[in-house]
Amino acid sequence: MGNNIKTIAVFTSGGDSPGMNACIRSVVRTALHHNIKVYGIRHGYDGMIRGEFITMDAASVSGIIHRGGTILKTARSKRFMTEEGMEKAALQLKKYKIDGIVAIGGDGTFKGALEFSSKYNIPFIGLPGTIDNDLAGTDFTIGFDTAVNTVVDAVDKIRDTAESHDRLFFVEVMGRDAGLIALNSGISIGAEAILIPETKTYIDDLIDLLQKGWKRSKSSYIIIVAEGDDAGGAYAIAEKVKVRFDKFDTRISVLGHLQRGGNPTAADRVLSTRLGFEAVNALLKGKKNVMVGIVDKGVVYTPFEKAVKYHASPDKALLKMVEILSQ
Ligand code: F6P
Repeated sequence: MGNNIKTIAVFTSGGDSPGMNACIRSVVRTALHHNIKVYGIRHGYDGMIRGEFITMDAASVSGIIHRGGTILKTARSKRFMTEEGMEKAALQLKKYKIDGIVAIGGDGTFKGALEFSSKYNIPFIGLPGTIDNDLAGTDFTIGFDTAVNTVVDAVDKIRDTAESHDRLFFVEVMGRDAGLIALNSGISIGAEAILIPETKTYIDDLIDLLQKGWKRSKSSYIIIVAEGDDAGGAYAIAEKVKVRFDKFDTRISVLGHLQRGGNPTAADRVLSTRLGFEAVNALLKGKKNVMVGIVDKGVVYTPFEKAVKYHASPDKALLKMVEILSQ
């Protein structure tokens, strides 16, 4: 320990996720413990380019551990991916004498960091902050558990009305091109079917399921659709089903951005706090251009290029289980 890290910067980038604030708090207080000066950069990479650096002290992160969103704000920066943007960002980092950076975000954030680090020699440590849980090198990303619980809470309510009206609901959840929010929330709410991008969706199978149910007077259904499903979103799939089997009174619910907000669950607060702590330790150990994750309870460093190449391979046995239990 004790290398040349005197000043660091922390920022959040990409889609916000519940737990980011707990993570910022942890980074700031761990750094201060090691007598490291900390700047927060507002608005992600865009703020880095514009020089939105603010000094963080222990008080600046008090009362935020339970809050969703990010006090540092966030952005999806197109400008940072240009040479001109990176050059401006590098100048700002030099101006503030930044020796190391903690970037909390998802794959877009790490792709930016990777590109930047191939040109400029400032160590980046990434922390997995996305509700999608779509990064290699960590069992869970910051915000995933909260988002799944938010979906469960919403769909439990939809179930009440679905049952009362004898309706078929297609509920679309986030996840971009990953189906883990759909899978975990679908299992938790006892969905009749879960449609995810990682496995092919057959409309025939869906119709078969509904027809069988219809014959035995099953009157309500919840089908969870991941937004990136290969057969389309909830509207498209509902339409494909409807033209061939329209016995059910059908409704569609797209949960949207409510999945990104809200107070983080205890699991997300613990994860975020631990990751923030480990990010500063990683910089002190001389690590660079890696994402810090937790795998099987242990701290794991994954190079950015590997972390962003994740292709979800959800446990097929879980989908089979859903099929068996949905009857
Ligand atoms: O990556 C998080 C996420 O919420 C995805 O699940 C979703 O596809 C996307 O961000 C939405 O992005 P935006 O908030 O920019 O519309």
